[in-house]
Amino acid sequence: MRILFVCLGNICRSPAAEGIFNHFIRERGLEKLVACDSAGIVGFHEGEGAYPKMKSIAGRRGYELTSISRPVRPGVDFEKFDLLIGMDDQNIKELNRMVADTKLKSKIHKMTEFCTFHLHSTVPDPYYGDTKDYELVLDLLEDACVGLIDFILKEGEI
Ligand code: 4NP
Repeated sequence: MRILFVCLGNICRSPAAEGIFNHFIRERGLEKLVACDSAGIVGFHEGEGAYPKMKSIAGRRGYELTSISRPVRPGVDFEKFDLLIGMDDQNIKELNRMVADTKLKSKIHKMTEFCTFHLHSTVPDPYYGDTKDYELVLDLLEDACVGLIDFILKEGEI
């Protein structure tokens, strides 16, 4: 089972999703069965690590963010990954524009679909925000990552 987390720049939300998901997967001993990566709709930050503010706030919660930004590669990623999970409606719209095939489109999901506690309909872009905006992103991602793992296990995908 392979999951690709997607946001706009791949330096804040999707690297945090990747770090949190990997942390939970390791805690549950599922690392041989499920793997994830992250990518951005745009390549503006290609080659950069996670944004330092996100890295340090996530680090305070015990998550290590190690990913390097890259853009989504439609021709490769829609074949390689089972789920492509966007953070907001714009991400979902852009992902849908990348492929025509309905089977490939069905791999696209929004991260907040997997939240079981928070009622937000998107993971909002924190880039120009303050610390509380970054903390909210991490709260939503933690909630969604737990729900996503439950979803994967229940669906019998792994
Ligand atoms: P992300 O946040 O999509 O969560 O990585 C952003 C990072 C950079 C920019 C926008 C959003 N930017 O405009 O450069």
